[in-house]
Parts: sequence; structure tokens; C-alpha cells
Amino acid sequence: MTVSYPRKYRNILSARDILKRVIQDRELHMMTLNRYRYNEQRSCKDLTELIERLNGQPKELIRDISNHIVEESRHALWLTDLLIDLGEDIGQPTGISYIDAFEKLIDQEAYTTQSNRDDIIIDSLAAINATEKRGCEFFSAHIEALKEAEQTEENIKIRETIERIFPEEAGHVRWGNRWLSKMAQKSPEHKEKVERAKRRFFAIEQAAYESSDIMMGAELRRIEHLMEISETMPLWERTQYLMKHIPETVFNPELQLFRIEMAQKAWQKDPKMFVEQFIPMFFKGINREDFDRMKQKNSNN
Ligand SMILES: [Fe+2]
Ligand SMILES: [Fe+2]
Repeated sequence: MTVSYPRKYRNILSARDILKRVIQDRELHMMTLNRYRYNEQRSCKDLTELIERLNGQPKELIRDISNHIVEESRHALWLTDLLIDLGEDIGQPTGISYIDAFEKLIDQEAYTTQSNRDDIIIDSLAAINATEKRGCEFFSAHIEALKEAEQTEENIKIRETIERIFPEEAGHVRWGNRWLSKMAQKSPEHKEKVERAKRRFFAIEQAAYESSDIMMGAELRRIEHLMEISETMPLWERTQYLMKHIPETVFNPELQLFRIEMAQKAWQKDPKMFVEQFIPMFFKGINREDFDRMKQKNSNN
């Protein structure tokens, strides 16, 4: 079974484009590795919580998740070892957190109070699957970028660490696909729930991924994602979801601060690059298509 990656989103740079740039800036490269470390560590905590929620059943799934935790925890360890060997920081990463954004977009209350075990399994597997796919996309792009880069001792060491992690991440995606199709086979109702969960968590993941998008028009694109997420919900939940999330999307002080910080950093580092590359990249983030799509969507609803 092959691993399919999330579609490249319109104006957003692809993982390959991003990683090519990241590895050229050592500070950014190290921050990215520390972010990977953090995400791996955090997934151990989330998977442990899932085991607790499932409370002993089904045993086969709990054994699989326990094994999954072993693998995620060794990924965190390999990255921690790597960063310590390189003399780098292993503290809490700064900036907008992908995992926090992901969790914010899940309707936490409804999600954590679910009592039907199959619903918990389906939603959790769909959520894990969406984030694992993103992980694979990034690790694969990172390996490729490092292969093309200068073969310094440091770059080789980083590549070898990610190459050790990558096959296990691809295994996690395949494992999730297998379990989701197993759940879908239980009944037509299960099938429908699996499809809906896949759509919902795909949209949530895409929105969380783009939460660190600082380009012009990011808010507009986020609202569009919120609409996609809400479309997978029953009618009566839609309005509630949108009323809660649209204001925090449009008036997001964290995003404004992050924008200013990034612009300042880019300017201080290289004023020439700031004018020639950063500014055009920033404005490229919005175009006529975004407005037209939004208008179209609103008139359809
Ligand atoms: Fe991992
Ligand atoms: Fe994983």
C-alpha cells in the first residue's frame, strides 16, 4: 500500500520548497528539528490519553497503539540525541504551534465527551492519519533537500536521523488506513462515519498546517477551511462551530505578532533579501482567486 500525501494547497509553498529554504538557514533548521522533536514527544502523550479513553477495548487496537507509542518515543529520543550532540536547544519551541492549532480546531467538548467507542476509534484514527501523512510529507522533503545540499558532517547526521524515522512514519499511515477500512467494513453507518471523519480531519489538519501561514490573505483561507470543516458536521452544530472559530480566526493577535516578528527577523538578517524575496512572497499569498472562491462559496450556502 502506498502512502498518499496531502494535496499541495494553492498559494502555500510545498514542503519541498519550504525545506529547501529551511536547511539553508542554520537557526531555522535547528528550530525545525526541535519542532519535530516536540511533536514526536507530544504524540506519545496524546496516544497514551487515547489508550486511557478506550479503557481496555479493543485489545488488538490497544496493543497497536502501545507499539505506536514506543516508535514515537524513540523518534523523540533520536531527535533529542541529535540536537544535544549538535549543541542545540531542546526547550519548548516558539511561534505558532501546529499541534495546538489542530487541537483548537477540533470541537474538543464534543470530541472528549463521546461515549460510543467506535466513534472514538474512528475520529481518533482519522485525526492520527491526517497528521501522520503530514509528517511523512515533511520528512521525505527534508531528506531530499539534505541529499541535494552540501554534504557536511552535520547535514549527513541530520539526514541519517530522519531516514531512520521516516519508514516508521510511513508504517503509521498504512496502519491507520488499514484500521479505518476495517472500521468502515462493520456496517454502512460505520462506512459513512469513516468517510465523514476522514473529510473533517483532513480539513482540520490543512487548517492547522496553515496556521503558521503569515502571508496576506491567510485569514481568508482559514475561513474557507472552517467552512469545509463545518460541512462535515450536522446542521445544528455548524453555526455553533463557525460562531466560535471565525472570530478567533479573523482577530488572531498571535498571527499578527508572528507576522511582525518574522518580518523583523527577515529584515535584520538580510535587508536585500527582505525587499527582493520576502515582500513579494508575502503579497503573493493573496490573489483574486481567493476572493472569487469565497464569494462563490458564500452564494452557494
Ligand atoms: Fe514519529
Ligand atoms: Fe508517527
